[in-house]
Parts: sequence; C-alpha cells; structure tokens
Amino acid sequence: MTHFLGVRDAGDVGALVDEALALKKDPYAHAELGRHKTLGLVFMNPSLRTRASSWKAGRLLGMDVAVINAAADGWALEFDDAAVMDGKTVEHIRDAAPVLGQYFDLLGVRSFPALQSRDDDEREAVLTQFVAHAGVPVVSLESALRHPLQSLADMITIREHRARPRPKVVLTWAPHIKPIPHAVANSFAEWTLAAGYDLTVANPEGFDLDPRFTQGATVTHDQREALCGADFVYVKNWSSYERYGAVHEGGAQWMLTPASLADAPGAAVMHCLPVRRNVELSSDVLDGAAARVQAQAGNRVWAAMAVFKRLLERS
Ligand code: CP
Repeated sequence: MTHFLGVRDAGDVGALVDEALALKKDPYAHAELGRHKTLGLVFMNPSLRTRASSWKAGRLLGMDVAVINAAADGWALEFDDAAVMDGKTVEHIRDAAPVLGQYFDLLGVRSFPALQSRDDDEREAVLTQFVAHAGVPVVSLESALRHPLQSLADMITIREHRARPRPKVVLTWAPHIKPIPHAVANSFAEWTLAAGYDLTVANPEGFDLDPRFTQGATVTHDQREALCGADFVYVKNWSSYERYGAVHEGGAQWMLTPASLADAPGAAVMHCLPVRRNVELSSDVLDGAAARVQAQAGNRVWAAMAVFKRLLERS
C-alpha cells in the first residue's frame, strides 16, 4: 500500500478486515510501530468520527498526531495549476503540500465535492495534488468520490454481524434536505462488491449512482422489493448523479421505518452518521435492536489503524 485512496489500495478486503479485527482484539500490540513518526490530518470540511477515530488510531500506533483545520485556520489554498493568484487564494497546494510532507510521515486529507460541476469534482483536485506534491503516503479521509475508511469500517461491521458468508446487503437511498455527496454510497458499493457480498441498490428514478461503482449489483427503484430478505440495510442519502447535485423534491416515503423492514425481519440497519433523525431514518429504527450504527462508528478506529499500520510498515 503506497497511499490509501480507495478499495484498490486495500488489496484483499477480507485480509484487511482480518488485520483490523486483530487490532481491535489487541489495540496496544503495535504501540511502538509509530514511535518518532507524525500523522497530519488535514480537514477542508467538518468531521466528528473521522477526525477523532484517526487521531485515536494514530495514537494507538505510537504516532504524534496533529489535526489541521485547513479551511478554517489555514491560508486559503489554490488548486488550479494555471492560476494567477491575484484573488482570494493565498498559497498554492504545490507549495503547501511539500511543506506538510516534510513535517509529517503520513498525511490524511478530507475534501468534499462542491457538487456544482461533475467534471470538476471527478478531477479530485485536492486529493490528487496532495498525492502528487506531498512526497509521503496520503490517506483519504473522504474525497469527492470515495470514503474508503468508512467503507472499511462498514466491512468490519458486516463481518462481525453476518450470519452467513455471503449476506444480502441493500444500500437504500434516503430523503435529505440538502445536496449530499456520493462518496459514502459509491464507496460502500465498491467495497461490498469487492468483499464478494450480494448487493442491491435501491433509489428513486433519476438517482442512480455512477454505474462505475455499482457494476455487479442489482439496481432497482423499488425499495420494498429490494429490502425483501435483506441481511443488512445501509441507509444513505445522495444527490442526483444524472442531474448533478440536484436534491429530490419529495421522496419522504423512502425514509426507513419499522414498517419498511416488514419483509426483512432480521436485518441489521447501518448508517455512516451523522444522520438526520426522522428524515433519513426513523428514531425507533435508530434506537432499536436492529441498529448497528454505533458499532460502525466504533470500528472506524480499527479501520484507520489497519491502514496506518500498513503504511508505517512500508515506510
Ligand atoms: N461518517 C463520517 O465520516 O463521519 P464524520 O463526517 O463525522 O467524520
């Protein structure tokens, strides 16, 4: 593993999940591995789980960890190679990234899409330029297209709670009031398929994900049909990919409630958090016995730790 930007960097998903579960069992076994190493966590956007779990994972490996809220506290960064910087941006990423690469042995970067232009977002300018110019391994803490640390935590959670080797996993769209990125849904789909699970994606018409991420899954616009016999139900909103960034006007009937789960009585319910209660998921599902959302959030530590460990072992 040179960088950790997506499922391709994981290699064998099952083996990485095994490694994360071993760390969960014995969290202090590698406390010396990161001694005298530093981890920089650069955030262009808000975070609770990714920030805290990555910090904890780094500390468990013995690293010093710095969290940099670049959007709030740093100089305004420029990412356009051809920019004439006579506007609001103060420092070019080509100058800033190598500086950070001298201070840190590993760099994590979070950068959300603007959801204005599909082409711009798909260029992943922030992540790509950190990879190009930092000179140290870069870990995606969520980019425009993917959220691989979340997906690894999700795969750990499924492994822990599955009752059969190839469970039926349903990723179901949920309502939301704001345009939400595709990263969690894209990533969950590609990791679930890479893990060899049976994946169904359910969403309203006009809200199909980029097919590059769902190739090999069943895609349907009928939530009820999708949920029938599900072992895991992953609830997530995303804005339209087709009408890029558009919010669904309506769709309240897609909110997951106990009634939605009538034909999937044993299903475990997942969500990456943060969640809008009684918009995406009803509170009685979130607070009920089927919810695995806290288990997912807890597993974020072991996911980050497994990835940092691999990168430290390589350096
Ligand atoms: N799931 C997740 O990434 O949470 P945060 O945005 O709080 O980090």
